[in-house]
Amino acid sequence: MSIELKFFHYKTGFVDIQSFCAEHKDLDRYVKETMSQWESSNVTRNYLTLDVQGNCVGVFSLSASTLKDTTPEVRKEGNFPNGIQLPTIKIGRFVVDNSIRGKGVGREMLKKCIYLFIEASKTIGVVGLTVDAKDETDSQGRPIYGYYEKFGFKRLTSEPQDGCWPMILYTGKMKKQYPALFEQEV
Ligand SMILES: CC(C)(COP(=O)(O)OP(=O)(O)OC[C@H]1O[C@@H](n2cnc3c(N)ncnc32)[C@H](O)[C@@H]1OP(=O)(O)O)[C@@H](O)C(=O)NCCC(=O)NCCS
Repeated sequence: MSIELKFFHYKTGFVDIQSFCAEHKDLDRYVKETMSQWESSNVTRNYLTLDVQGNCVGVFSLSASTLKDTTPEVRKEGNFPNGIQLPTIKIGRFVVDNSIRGKGVGREMLKKCIYLFIEASKTIGVVGLTVDAKDETDSQGRPIYGYYEKFGFKRLTSEPQDGCWPMILYTGKMKKQYPALFEQEV
């Protein structure tokens, strides 16, 4: 990767986020107006991606979630017990600044999400990392869900739900991909 990045847990006023541009109404509103409230009320934990000059070039959030309507295929995937909602960690508001897309920032952000997920999974039971991929295409006409599929996420439904594709990267699959990260004791 040619770009050097640092990740910071968001704190109000710590970094100028007003110059960040998602060029997406809902995502820009979240970053500039509501992220602070979601963070302080403990609904999401928010992470800023900074370049070497300290500019915010990416944002994502993580929060506890559950898989409610699981199919037999999902339960078979991890030999999960029946009759319970399966605990997960959900990625939200995953966005790279419009001026720097396609240069590997998103890839590094997803790696950071996976690292944070693995650390949390050592102390709290979670069956996977989830994301609701918007049912939209990017500037090259590629579906957004294709981005997450590239990193091993699977779509959980055959149709989008409320404008999004629910997707998951199972903990079991991650353990095979990143065994060393799981082996480190907490
Ligand atoms: C989607 C997004 C986060 C990707 O970040 P990015 O920094 O531009 O992506 P990267 O440069 O890290 O891409 C990594 C790889 O994924 C590929 N890729 C990107 N989008 C893809 C898509 N929709 N489908 C398949 N592959 C895709 C890239 O070509 C690249 O492949 P390569 O490593 O073989 O060259 C960014 O474009 C963005 O912020 N979009 C607007 C907000 C959004 O849609 N967020 C998702 C909400 S669910």
